[in-house]
Amino acid sequence: MNDGLIADNLSVKGSGLQFCGQDVAALAKEYGTPLYLMDEDCIRARCRTYREAVKRAFGERGRVLYASKAAAFLHMFRIMQEEGLSVDVVSCGELYTAYKAGFPMENVWFHSSNKTDADIAFGMDLGVGCFIVDNTDELESIDRIAAERQFRQDILLRITPGIDPHTFDAVATGKVDSKFGFGIETGAAEAVTARALELPHVRLVGFHCHVGSQVFDSDVFLRSADILFSYMDRIRAVYGYVADRLDLGGGYGVRYVVSDPALDLAANIAEVGARVKALCERYAYPQPEISFEPGRSIVADAGLTVYTVGTVKRIPDVVNYVSVDGGMTDNIRYALYGASYTVLPASRMDEPAEMNCTVVGRCCESGDIIQPNVLLPESTRRGDLLAVCTTGAYHYSMASNYNRLPRPPIVMLRGGTSTVAVRRETLDDLLRCDA
Ligand code: LLP
Repeated sequence: MNDGLIADNLSVKGSGLQFCGQDVAALAKEYGTPLYLMDEDCIRARCRTYREAVKRAFGERGRVLYASKAAAFLHMFRIMQEEGLSVDVVSCGELYTAYKAGFPMENVWFHSSNKTDADIAFGMDLGVGCFIVDNTDELESIDRIAAERQFRQDILLRITPGIDPHTFDAVATGKVDSKFGFGIETGAAEAVTARALELPHVRLVGFHCHVGSQVFDSDVFLRSADILFSYMDRIRAVYGYVADRLDLGGGYGVRYVVSDPALDLAANIAEVGARVKALCERYAYPQPEISFEPGRSIVADAGLTVYTVGTVKRIPDVVNYVSVDGGMTDNIRYALYGASYTVLPASRMDEPAEMNCTVVGRCCESGDIIQPNVLLPESTRRGDLLAVCTTGAYHYSMASNYNRLPRPPIVMLRGGTSTVAVRRETLDDLLRCDA
């Protein structure tokens, strides 16, 4: 039997896995595999958890931005708008998707560590709420491009607090040696703050920091707040500047396997709220608008990927390979980060799972591994369904067409119904840019 049901939107009926109370085999039959399923009720519930927690902690001076890099498509932006979130984007592609979804542009904040002049002009012309500035070249460009348009652009400066969030190196961004932002210790932060205050066509509205992703230590956000308040206090003393906004970034972790801790988001945000209140008192600082930018913790466990097994290759005393009809093209996270996953035998949930195997994809690449050391039933064979849990964040958004494989569709599940939010790519879609 499988006891690895890590999320409460998963259940078992007979031999079949159910997701959001719907039969995974029936969904696979209707939409084909590989298939991304997303639990829309779960996404909406998570948005509300964040909004309510932020409201309790910061009143009207709080904001939740969905980090759309986790999963960006029209329907997702519509959900975020309906749930009253703002969004952050990191490219013209994400921005354009938000725009086409009818998302209010003043609630879109534009990130990215290397915005081109064309990106900046596009963002300004669409009217994004603010730019999060990562480097001085960008700052000067924003000032110049805003001058051409005869207005003043709101910006936040991305500050690097110098914290190691104890997470995978590849997703850590707040350390001193980071490619992102301006270090406090190096003096870069103060220099760029001084420069931003001088420029006539930017309006410095505050500061931003983001330490890392898949973070479980609530103390990371507390330490960020400590460091940023101390920094803002110094800037006020030297330049007389009081920040109106402080964005503490995203990064709250989620459970991919049963051994991962379950985070209490509301409790964590309440702790940050208490700390910010104490810091405002300590420094006699008017409370800035506090924002968070969660991506993964809003959508990750709303996602389930369903595959069909193509072959089981047993290499005695070495390894058993179970090959599925997707792979690193729809889930690159094991290949890139060695990420852990819970894999379920979606059509044999009532059988003992005792065959140790490596679940691999169909790409011509030996690194195309979804997960090693998975326990599946001995009887697993061609035609069976496998489900990989917690694939709502950074799967579709990092998907590729390697080997000219079409990307899977995204089907949203809500209140017992299913609808296609992103259709499956066709072979002709693969040719659409070819001359
Ligand atoms: N804000 C900023 C400035 C960020 O760089 C990120 C993520 C977020 C917010 C959202 O972080 P989240 O709440 O989703 O952890 N591809 C990797 C994750 C890269 C995250 C990059 N930045 C993965 O698949 O794990």
